[in-house]
Amino acid sequence: MRERHNEANKMQAVAAIPKKKEVTIVDHPRPLLASDDEVIVKSLDVGICGTDREICTFVYGDPPHGSDYLVLGHESLGVVQELGSAVEGFKPGDLVVPSVRRPCVHDHCAPCRADLQDFCATGDFVERGIKMSHGYMTEFYAEREKYLNPVPANLREVAVLVEPLTIVEKAMTQVWPTQNRLPWVRHHGENGRPTGKGLNAVVLGAGPVGILGAMKLKSEGFNTFVYSRSKAPNLKSELVESLGIPYISALETPLEAFSERVGNIDLVYEAVGVSSISYRVLSILGLNGIFVFTGIPSPKPAIELEADVIMRNVVLKNQVVIGTVNADQGSFVAAIKDLNVFMNLWPEALKALITRRCGVEDSRSLLLDKAAGIKNVIAFES
Ligand code: BGC
Repeated sequence: MRERHNEANKMQAVAAIPKKKEVTIVDHPRPLLASDDEVIVKSLDVGICGTDREICTFVYGDPPHGSDYLVLGHESLGVVQELGSAVEGFKPGDLVVPSVRRPCVHDHCAPCRADLQDFCATGDFVERGIKMSHGYMTEFYAEREKYLNPVPANLREVAVLVEPLTIVEKAMTQVWPTQNRLPWVRHHGENGRPTGKGLNAVVLGAGPVGILGAMKLKSEGFNTFVYSRSKAPNLKSELVESLGIPYISALETPLEAFSERVGNIDLVYEAVGVSSISYRVLSILGLNGIFVFTGIPSPKPAIELEADVIMRNVVLKNQVVIGTVNADQGSFVAAIKDLNVFMNLWPEALKALITRRCGVEDSRSLLLDKAAGIKNVIAFES
């Protein structure tokens, strides 16, 4: 369906234009309901992450077919504005967080056909704001009901953190079954749910993904440590310590001393995106340990690696290395639930994760200037 373009049905959007190597605010067509299961969502908050910043250096990200530009943004909190006639689960005014990835079109792609496009087997998936589909850094967007997740009103201030929290949620759906191979540590807490009690977890990196991961692991009972580069005290170390989680600076505590302090490392949640430190930490992973990679480093010159040590350990210590990307619907539901848990446990720290909220007019500097603070957010409504 072609839309009529005139001034009245255009709105502001933050976009990357690969051909011009430009990041700018464009006039973007205001969305119309294209099918009866669609919802028009008004943007409230859109978070900025490393992926957005990378797209702005033009090494990643693709506009949709037929468009010169890609509207950015995949971490969104919005409010329902208008509903298609078949939408049953939402009403105007409801808060929603959309997921990011959409399935490929191939009949033989079992994961996509099962609504598990985070495991797409063809690579032809699209991702809103990242790969061949416009994102959410715009005043309004249209989305099918099935890709929207309801958010309770008490999470209004922090729900833009749902998407980065889904990363650890999906990771844990893979960690728990792996942990279960060890019946003697298969502790079950209340409700028969697994717990991390008695296990040591290390979070690598103290950005938003790392801190949210640390919150999750701590709330699941793991004896949690954050290992990050910057010397303490700093904004991130103080936030981490306020959760009752030790922050250890890699600049101050060498790996060997860190390893001694923690003891057997049962789980590493990598949220730093830097291969050199990640592989060094992999080399100190404990017996029967699990290492989860979540970072996506940009291509750089090859690094030296203690490959024999790592390979020996992986084998002789029964280790498991997991890579995880994107998240399914279940992980979004879990993230919204856990955000509520964190809001009860650490309300001030959770809010303090969002260090800057600015209007669209400041989006270029947030995307292009040196990264500062923890989570920066573009607020479409003050
Ligand atoms: C997003 C994921 C996405 C990945 C790769 C991340 O920043 O959170 O949803 O799958 O980038 O494009």
